[in-house]
Amino acid sequence: MMGWASQNELLPLERYRQQRAAGEAVYDLASGSWSVYSHSGVKRILADYEHFSSQMQANPTEDEPIEGSILRRDPPKHKQMRSLIAKAFSAKVVKAMESQIRNIAEELLDRAASSGGLEVVGEFASPLPVIVIAELLGVPSEDRELFKGWSDDLVGNDYSRYLQCQKEMTAYFRIQIEERRKQPKNDLVTALVQSCMNDDNGLSELEVIGMCILLLVAGNETTTNLISSMMMCLESSPETYADLRRDRELIPGTIEETLRFCSPVQVIERRVKADMFWNGHWMQAGQRVYTYIGAANHDERVFADPERFNVKRSPNPHLAFGQGIHFCLGAMLARLEAKVALNVIVDRLESLRRLDDEPFERLDSDMMFGIKQMRIKV
Ligand code: HEM
Repeated sequence: MMGWASQNELLPLERYRQQRAAGEAVYDLASGSWSVYSHSGVKRILADYEHFSSQMQANPTEDEPIEGSILRRDPPKHKQMRSLIAKAFSAKVVKAMESQIRNIAEELLDRAASSGGLEVVGEFASPLPVIVIAELLGVPSEDRELFKGWSDDLVGNDYSRYLQCQKEMTAYFRIQIEERRKQPKNDLVTALVQSCMNDDNGLSELEVIGMCILLLVAGNETTTNLISSMMMCLESSPETYADLRRDRELIPGTIEETLRFCSPVQVIERRVKADMFWNGHWMQAGQRVYTYIGAANHDERVFADPERFNVKRSPNPHLAFGQGIHFCLGAMLARLEAKVALNVIVDRLESLRRLDDEPFERLDSDMMFGIKQMRIKV
């Protein structure tokens, strides 16, 4: 196992192993919820929207537009929303962003090079996806500090900040939508306004706002964590980094293995739709089910030697982007950003050397995995 993983339970691999051994579904009396840790269990539940709902609230209110977003809707509403926005994330659209992403990554490293050191998370892995998604949505990238604060709050453990930031984002996107109605632009907010709101089958303003909020957050925090975790894994495996410098064909495998090993989304939630027996357990309507992607991706029944970071692992059927109808819409974009980021790093740095040997610290979130910072020499 990598040394950093066991430090301060940065990644709770030992706990996940015990929980997988405890059974297919573990009931928590205090919260009345279930937790599932095995690869087969997580995969089955995520694919089974007929029994496990993504809708936590039947009628989302103005206060929590994210609850009305695609992520939290079941069919048929989910299908309608997905078909409206899938175009924006087609292979063609994503591929066309490659050189733009490369320019952003180069520029971020140029800035750091002049100071001799790079704080990987704050100066590289975090601004890169924020600028990309801001450009895609067509909102000013100068607002990125604002976006960053909102996305931290949305995935963090503080519920009052979670509600407050949605209020602020709603006000912000209302203005953006109004502006596009008056003066359309060539961006995703305009596309959402035009295809979603001017159509009988379209979406309400609140639903479009929920979508913008989701994209801003889904696209930020997760990709930041993927890039910084990749750097952390490579720093502790210098031989893999040296191999990558010789053979760029190893880059896709490195990205997939980081997604497996340090899954940016550790756990997702579902709700039991109706009373039923599931894998020998009596589940009742309304109960929450927590599916631990992070544990599933270390399941020894699927991944040989799961606690070894192996960029040549093949096949690598990780569940980091989910499974079934809600499979991540931004997976292609996230993989492209990670590929460009790693190529730019490998082009410039002969080796990865940390500027301190402080233990890594995990972000204050149970749902997400990522590190707070990592200083390297450039
Ligand atoms: C490494 C980066 C990423 C990871 C690990 C990730 C992970 C996930 C996961 C696990 C889901 C499924 C949630 C569920 O089933 O409840 C999901 C859905 C989604 N993701 Fe991502 N994501 C990433 C990047 C992105 C990016 C860059 C975007 C867009 C800019 C994005 C947009 C979405 C959207 C819109 C959904 C909802 C799809 C649906 O409900 O049909 N994600 N993502």
